[in-house]
Amino acid sequence: MATKQANRPAAKSDNGSAKKSVSKGQKQGNDSRLEEFFHDELKDIYWAEKHLVKTLPKLAKAASSEELKDAFTEHLEVTKEHVVRLEKVFGILGEQPQAKKCEAMDGITKEGESIIEDTEDGTSTRDVGLILAGQKAEHYEIATYGGLAQLAKTLGYEEVAGLLEQTLAEEKQADESLTELAENTINEQAGEEG
Ligand SMILES: [Fe+2]
Repeated sequence: MATKQANRPAAKSDNGSAKKSVSKGQKQGNDSRLEEFFHDELKDIYWAEKHLVKTLPKLAKAASSEELKDAFTEHLEVTKEHVVRLEKVFGILGEQPQAKKCEAMDGITKEGESIIEDTEDGTSTRDVGLILAGQKAEHYEIATYGGLAQLAKTLGYEEVAGLLEQTLAEEKQADESLTELAENTINEQAGEEG
């Protein structure tokens, strides 16, 4: 009995501090582990997008097909918008945009660079490799934005979810364009190179 009573004030003060953090969190969401995870993942994709802004011109330069060059150049412009959109997301969450190195995207882009080194300039075989590298990057982004948009909804950030879904749709579109390029021309041309 005495022990129970001794425990009660402690429990009360625990509740008190929890309440305090919720009301503090109402300005910027909830101070939960899920919230922290969400913010960390945003930093990760922010790094990835900024890294792609630097990588896409290299892919465009290395591509042989004019259409593929155009596809990478167009996606560069879209990617710059994705960076700005993420900055808007950080703003809505009351934070300064912060990037945290995304090892996955770093690996994917390194793989793209090694494709450039391992293939001959001006060949469709190189273009096939570049498309594959581009699609690996898109799929990583599709998985990330899809997951983050859902998480934003769970955390009650409807506006943020809308922005992330907008980017998600554009990543899917970029992926489809690359598939079309591969299916319609480039794979066949590469096959003819033997
Ligand atoms: Fe993007």
